[in-house]
Amino acid sequence: MRIAVTGAGGKLGRKVVARALLAGHDVVAVDLPAALGELQQSHFDATTLPQSGFAASVECRAADLTQFDEVRAALAGTDAVAHLGALIHPRYPEPVVHHTNVGGTHHVLVAAEEHGLGAVCLASSVNAIGGIFSATPRYDYFPIDEEHPTYCEDSYSLSKWIGEQQMAAFARRRPTVTFSALRLHALRKDFAAAHRPAEDDRDPRELWGWTSFDSAAAACLLALHRSTPGPAVYNIVAARTSTDVPSEELARRWYPDAPLRRPLPRNTGFWDTGRALAELGWDAEDEHPALSDRERNAR
Ligand SMILES: NC(=O)c1ccc[n+]([C@@H]2O[C@H](COP(=O)([O-])OP(=O)(O)OC[C@H]3O[C@@H](n4cnc5c(N)ncnc54)[C@H](O)[C@@H]3O)[C@@H](O)[C@H]2O)c1
Repeated sequence: MRIAVTGAGGKLGRKVVARALLAGHDVVAVDLPAALGELQQSHFDATTLPQSGFAASVECRAADLTQFDEVRAALAGTDAVAHLGALIHPRYPEPVVHHTNVGGTHHVLVAAEEHGLGAVCLASSVNAIGGIFSATPRYDYFPIDEEHPTYCEDSYSLSKWIGEQQMAAFARRRPTVTFSALRLHALRKDFAAAHRPAEDDRDPRELWGWTSFDSAAAACLLALHRSTPGPAVYNIVAARTSTDVPSEELARRWYPDAPLRRPLPRNTGFWDTGRALAELGWDAEDEHPALSDRERNAR
C-alpha cells in the first residue's frame, strides 16, 4: 500500500511512518513544512529504520490541513490515509482548534473520496466522550465501551467527537471503504514511562489510562488492513492502568455512582477494548513492539 500519513512529523506520526516502512509500505509523509524538515532530519533508530530506507520509500509533501487544495494534492496517488495531524490540546484558541481539526478532517475525507482511497484511519481520542479537559467528566459505567455517550466540553475533545461523526457520514457515501477512528489515550513509550505507582500522581479525570506509541502505530496499520468495510470506532488503550492502586478501589473513590458492568480486578483498565481485538486483532495486553504479519504489505 502507498499510505499517506498526515501529522507525519509529530510524535505518533514518526512512529507510524517508521512502522509502515518496516511493514513494506510506501509512505507519503504529509505535514507543515517545518515538521517535515524535522522528520527528514530526525534521528530514526537504526535498528528500526535505516536512513537509506527512509529516503527511498518516503515522499514528503508539505500541506496545511486547513487548505483543501494542499490536502487534495498531498493525498493524490495514495491507497490509504492515516490522518493524525491535529492541534492536540485545547490551549490553542477555540476557533483555531476547530478550524484545524474539524476542517482538516473534512478536507482529508473529501480528498480521500476524490482520489478513491480504500481505507481511512483517523486518530481520535478517548476525550471524544469528554475526560481530561472536562471540568468534571461524567462516566456512566465501567468499563467504557465505544457506545458510551459523549459529555465533552472543550474544543479539542469536541473536534475528536465531530471527527468521528464526519467519518460516519463519509462512510455512508462510500460503503465499500474501511473507515476507522482510533480512540487513543495518553501516548507513552511503554508501561515504565506511563507508570505512576500512586494514584495521586495522576489526574482522576483521565482514568489512569495510556497507550504505548508502538501499539498506537500498530493499531493504525491494522485499521488500514481491516477487511470489513464501513465505519468503526475503537478504544485503543492499554489493558492495565498506569497506577498500582487497584482499579475497583479507584472506581469506588472517584466515581461511586458509575456501575461496574463487569469486575475490574487488580489494575484492569477502565476501557473496553474487545472490539479492537475482535475486528482489528489489536490486543490491549501487548505493547506491540514487534510488527505483526497483519500489518505487512500484501504485495
Ligand atoms: N499525544 C497523545 O497523548 C494523544 C492522545 C490521544 C490522541 N492523540 C491524537 O493522535 C494524533 C497525533 O498526536 P501526536 O501526539 O503525534 O501530536 P503532535 O502534536 O506531536 O503531532 C501533530 C502533528 O500535526 C501537525 N499539524 C498541526 N496543525 C497542522 C496543520 N494545520 N496542517 C498540517 N499539519 C498540522 C503538526 O505539525 C504535528 O506534526 C492527534 O490527532 C492527536 O489528537 C494523541
